[in-house]
Amino acid sequence: MAVAGQRAGTLEGKTVLITGAGSGIGRATARLAAEAGAFVVAADIKGQDETVAGIAAAGGQAEARQLDITDATAWQSVVDEVLAARGRIDGLANIAGIVSSTDTLLTQTEEGWDRLVGIDLKGPWLGMRAVIRPMLDAGAGKIVNIASTAGLIGMPDVLAYSAAKGGVIALSRQVAVEYAAENVQVNVVAPGVIRTPMHGDVTPALMAQVKAATPVGRLGEPEDIGAMVVYLLGAGGDFVTGQVFTVDGGWTAR
Ligand SMILES: NC(=O)c1ccc[n+]([C@@H]2O[C@H](COP(=O)([O-])OP(=O)(O)OC[C@H]3O[C@@H](n4cnc5c(N)ncnc54)[C@H](O)[C@@H]3O)[C@@H](O)[C@H]2O)c1
Repeated sequence: MAVAGQRAGTLEGKTVLITGAGSGIGRATARLAAEAGAFVVAADIKGQDETVAGIAAAGGQAEARQLDITDATAWQSVVDEVLAARGRIDGLANIAGIVSSTDTLLTQTEEGWDRLVGIDLKGPWLGMRAVIRPMLDAGAGKIVNIASTAGLIGMPDVLAYSAAKGGVIALSRQVAVEYAAENVQVNVVAPGVIRTPMHGDVTPALMAQVKAATPVGRLGEPEDIGAMVVYLLGAGGDFVTGQVFTVDGGWTAR
């Protein structure tokens, strides 16, 4: 991708915590943030060590943390450890998430709803709650939460996912307004369909349909989202808060 190198130095001296860093969009974001000069704390329940090894091999700085984003105590431990070691958390990117693409109003189970909303909506809340105090103490901070186009428009079969992602947008706006005067910016990136392991069971025919319906004529790559997240974590996000950036190749513009 042509995006590599365009952000060189933009996160120099910053420590950023990225969830979901073991795969897909989170891994690409971790790599691009490190390329931009950040010290990256790569958090996930799996895959985070490989991400850190890749960053180190490319000359970047990163460390791995095992973190289940639904666990408030685990969040506190990770934040305490990062603060003890580095003295600061400049940015948080809440990227970890799951999808369920078979759920309608009638088929959605309560267990499935609780699990999905627990990870995709409660997880980002716990993350923001864990980092806000050190950001306020430092007098600055940037948070980027990942929603989805499914949180913006109605889509079939993703009932709890749509609700959770819409909730992420509302939650982010609320926190953005609450802390705007304290120099903490909170923004949302809403991806369209991005080629990651999340779509492992989607058929090639369906992917071809999505591609055909996307004005730019291709599916999204994890780096397309990572580039926007890194921009918002850097100075580009200084006067931007409570906003939703849809990165979908024009899919919702039709
Ligand atoms: N791929 C897409 O088309 C797409 C579109 C819109 C939004 N998104 C969103 O982007 C984010 C990343 O998705 P992706 O496509 O990279 O998926 P992915 O499956 O490649 O990566 C998701 C990561 O989240 C981690 N994770 C899941 N549950 C966790 C938990 N409880 N604690 C910590 N980590 C956990 C997984 O281990 C995995 O590494 C998700 O929030 C997803 O909803 C993806």
